[in-house]
Amino acid sequence: MRIDIITVVPGLLEGPFAHSILKRAEEKGIAKVRVHNLRAYASGKQKQVDDYAFGGGAGMVLMVEPIVKCITALQAERIYDEIIYMSPDGKTFDQNMANELSLKGNIMILCGHYKGVDERVRQKWITREISIGDYVLSGGELAAAVVTDAIIRLIPGVLNDETSALTDSFQDGLLAPPVYTRPAEYDGMKVPDVLLSGHEAKIEAWRFEASVRRTKERRPDLLEGKDF
Ligand code: ADE
Repeated sequence: MRIDIITVVPGLLEGPFAHSILKRAEEKGIAKVRVHNLRAYASGKQKQVDDYAFGGGAGMVLMVEPIVKCITALQAERIYDEIIYMSPDGKTFDQNMANELSLKGNIMILCGHYKGVDERVRQKWITREISIGDYVLSGGELAAAVVTDAIIRLIPGVLNDETSALTDSFQDGLLAPPVYTRPAEYDGMKVPDVLLSGHEAKIEAWRFEASVRRTKERRPDLLEGKDF
């Protein structure tokens, strides 16, 4: 998979993909993330990428021309399954959407900044708008990093233990059960006996029950229409 991210603040995306699981995905040749500075596609000496909104009001708007130039240049290199715009107006990102996007080949992500992008970009080029929640960030970059992380870790071969993504919170519609590591007792606090028993079926049953209990307590909305 390849993800190309277009931004006016590339510095915001320098960190996340150079570490840990995302770095390993790149080294294994499983997922490639490339960040493109929109300013490189601006014309004129000023390299202008934004302008005042027609009709007035506070805040700048990212201009259609540099964005289309950048999209077109990227499309000349490969075919994209999706051109995503990160925006609080989009559909709220969740694990189902992460699963769906992890099956794609090439994805482009456009990050808005300031007041957003010229509406004509959204009308003609964007295939999907994604929000990461009902709050407003100062730009789409951190949201794009969240979405990229959630997608890439689902691609087979990225995680060392391939089953571990399957037992994540939300993957089966439930929150994950509690986990423990050594020591078996700390300051009088004991790890549940069953987890030390070595009895796989009992451990599995305990984990499932603990997941259901936790979901009932913390996110009963996830259980609506389910029969636990
Ligand atoms: N850009 C600004 N706020 C955002 C949000 N909540 N989700 C996605 N992109 C955004």
